[in-house]
Amino acid sequence: GQRYVILGNHRDAWTFGAADPNSGTAAMIELAQRFSMLQKQGWRPRRTIIFCSWDAEEYGLTGSTEWVEENREMLSTRAVAYLNIDVSVVGPVLLPSTTPQLDELLLETIKLVQDPDNSSQTVYDSWVKANASPKIQRLGNGGSDYAAFVQHVGIPSTNLIFGEGPGYPVYHSLYDDFVWVEKFADPGFRRHVAAASIWGIMALRLADEEIIPFDYMSYTTELEAYTKVVEKETEGTTVSCSPLYNSIRALKKAATKVNSERKDIQRELSSKQLSKDSMRIRGLNDRLMQAERAFTNREGIFKQAWYKHLIYGPSEQNDWDTASYPGIADAIATARSSNTSASWKLVQHEVHRVARAVAQASAVLSGSLT
Ligand SMILES: *[C@@H]1O[C@H](CO)[C@@H](O)[C@H](O)[C@H]1NC(C)=O
Ligand SMILES: *[C@@H]1O[C@H](CO)[C@@H](O)[C@H](O)[C@H]1NC(C)=O
Repeated sequence: GQRYVILGNHRDAWTFGAADPNSGTAAMIELAQRFSMLQKQGWRPRRTIIFCSWDAEEYGLTGSTEWVEENREMLSTRAVAYLNIDVSVVGPVLLPSTTPQLDELLLETIKLVQDPDNSSQTVYDSWVKANASPKIQRLGNGGSDYAAFVQHVGIPSTNLIFGEGPGYPVYHSLYDDFVWVEKFADPGFRRHVAAASIWGIMALRLADEEIIPFDYMSYTTELEAYTKVVEKETEGTTVSCSPLYNSIRALKKAATKVNSERKDIQRELSSKQLSKDSMRIRGLNDRLMQAERAFTNREGIFKQAWYKHLIYGPSEQNDWDTASYPGIADAIATARSSNTSASWKLVQHEVHRVARAVAQASAVLSGSLT
């Protein structure tokens, strides 16, 4: 196919690396084997599936970043999604991260997979029980090989870990070995199976479904929440968030329109009024795929030009925590310390840039550009 679903995991490790990265590598090898069994039975995915084994992740995401930079044009025109696994298992609770159009697919998937620690419930049930307010994390940090895909090119992505919370005791140490994994991280190795299952089901649906399973409604909810934070942080200044709210409203309209188009097409497909190769399906898929790209900007974020994504990227304040609107965040930090009217105008400028990107995404999604 002309469209790619990309699965990736790194293979370099600090020492033994039983959890980091080999718990993920085990999942990747397992999936490659299962997909090849399916292929021998005659399965041909609608879209091409690419497996990537990265080197030098621990040295600063070097392998994946080089590959993404070298293939930027190809990825920008053809990549549907990038599904990352790094450390896949260090504990019992799912800690998922996605770009928001993949939220719905993730939730549907974890409702299908059995909780590895309790066969009378699903991973979804245990995830909800383990969290007072279950939250999907975002991908604005430099935590693993998804960074270049999301933050440099704007490719919808996911990352999956079974853990306890942030961090785990043997991280990057000599004790991250098979004994620790077998005794503590996953006695019985059922969590490994669950991680591979979630990863594999998401890949299969992204590769095979006539219409790419993206839902942009969740994106609008997220953007609204981030904008409320900006509004609060800029209270009493000249900064106005209305441009951003307006563009989010447009995105919501576009997402609603696309979701009803999807339903129409699905109905016509099931009643055989429409062929699987219809240009209408192709057009809708291109819009779903390209909408994320619209969040990127050629000039990149404030003071950090390599990072092109205006919603998710590292803020200069903190390179590790997940940040949203990193350009706005850094402009606010600068304005706070100087408190000049020019510096607050720069914040407004950043707000406008994000608002334009969101407006562009809604134009791409609704098809008003084509
Ligand atoms: C297993 O899941 C079931 C159904 O959700 C629940 O009633 C039960 O308490 C769980 N068992 C344990 C040991 O958590
Ligand atoms: C920033 O500048 C404005 C206007 O000059 C002033 O009203 C405000 O008190 C200043 N804030 C701080 C934290 O210095």
